[in-house]
Amino acid sequence: MTNLFKKDFPILGDDRYIYFDNAATSQRPRQVTEAVRRFNDETNSNPLRGLYQWSVEATDRYEAARHRVAGFIGAKHDEEIIFTRNSTESLNLIAYSWALDNLTEGDRIVITVLEHHSDILPWQMVSKKTGAVLDYIECDEKGGISDGEIEKKIVPGTKLVCCMEVSNVLGCRLPVEKITSRAHNVGAVTVVDAAQSVPHRPVNVRALGADFLVFSGHKLMAPMGIGVLYAKLSLLENMTPFLRGGEMIESVTRYGAVWAPLPQRFEAGTVNAAGAVGLAAAIDYLEDIGFDTVREREEKLVSLLLDGIRSVPHAEFYGSDDPKDHGGIAAFNIKGCHPHDVASILDTENICIRAGHHCAQPLHDHLGLQSTARASVYFYNDESEAERFIEALKKVRGWLGYGD
Ligand code: ALA
Repeated sequence: MTNLFKKDFPILGDDRYIYFDNAATSQRPRQVTEAVRRFNDETNSNPLRGLYQWSVEATDRYEAARHRVAGFIGAKHDEEIIFTRNSTESLNLIAYSWALDNLTEGDRIVITVLEHHSDILPWQMVSKKTGAVLDYIECDEKGGISDGEIEKKIVPGTKLVCCMEVSNVLGCRLPVEKITSRAHNVGAVTVVDAAQSVPHRPVNVRALGADFLVFSGHKLMAPMGIGVLYAKLSLLENMTPFLRGGEMIESVTRYGAVWAPLPQRFEAGTVNAAGAVGLAAAIDYLEDIGFDTVREREEKLVSLLLDGIRSVPHAEFYGSDDPKDHGGIAAFNIKGCHPHDVASILDTENICIRAGHHCAQPLHDHLGLQSTARASVYFYNDESEAERFIEALKKVRGWLGYGD
C-alpha cells in the first residue's frame, strides 16, 4: 500500500508516531493550514460588519465556505447551513431552538442506544423540561438494529427521532434511511449525527432523509472549533435563536428585537471565519482524494487490524466480523488488561489510540462492557503501521505480568 498522503501532513512526516485516534480527531494537511494562514494573512477582519475591502473579502470567503459545505452534503440552499463550533453545539441548538418549543408532555423522542453522549444529553434535558418521553431503539451485540425494533419504537406520537449514521465505538453504519422513513411516516422530525460518517463516505441530506444533520469539521481534517448544522429551511424559518447578541438581528429596541434573516439569525457573535475557510479547504482535499480511495484504504487497514486482534492471545474486537462495516474503527479488549493500561503501554511505542467509554456509556452498558480500547484509522495510515500496532499489542499482557 503506497502512502502518497503522509507528505501532506507535517505531524506525521517523520513516521515516529502511529496515529490511530482518527475517530476522536483527524490530522490536518498543509492544504488546510495554508488556507487558514491565507485567510489570516491576507484578509483577517470581522466578516459581515465592515464596509472596507478586507471585511468584504472575509465575508466572501466565509460565504463561499458555506456554499462549499451545502454542495458537499447536498443541501438545496446555502441558508440551510449554520456554522457552529462542533456537532455538540449543533445538537444543542436543535434542542433549545426547536425541540423545547415544539415538544410537549407525552410526545415521544426516540434515539438509539448507540448514540454519543452529545446526542443523548440534549434530549434528556428536553424530556425533563417538556415532559416528553425519551425512548431507545436497542441494538444487538454487533450493533445491528432490526426492522421490528424500529417499528416498535417509532410509533404515532413520536415527534423527534435522532440517530448517528456511523457508531463511534463499533464503526457500524446504522439503518438511517429506514429510521428516517419510519419517522416521517409517523410525522416525526429527524436528526442525523453524521460526525463519524462525513469523513469516510459521501453524505447527502436528502438521500438520508435528514431534516437536521450535524457534523464537526475537525474529524475531516478541518481545524477544531468549526462545526455544521444543516436544517431544512421550513424548520429554520420557524425557530427562535439559540444564542443572542451581535450580528444576529435586523434591529434592536430597548425591549425587543427583530431577528436577522437566515442564516445569520443563528450565528450570534463573531464567527469562526478562518475555521470555515479551513473546512472548505478540507472538503476540497478530501474530494480530490475521493471517497473510493478513502474506503478502499480503510477497509484494507481495518481488515489487518481485525485479523491481527484475532491473532493476539486473549484479545477480542467488537462489532461486525466484516471489515467493510467498521467505518475505520476497531474497538477491542485484551482479557485482564484495563483499556487505559493498553493505551498507556502502546504509548510507550508511540502508538496513539483511545481508551474508555468514548462518550457512549449507554452503549457500553448495553453491551455489558465497562470500557474498550479503540484504534481508528484514516486513509493516511498504512499497512506498516497496522503491523507495528499488532506487534505492540502482543506485548501488552507480558508487560502486565501475564505468563501466557
Ligand atoms: N466523539 C469523539 C470520539 O469518539 C471524540 O472519540
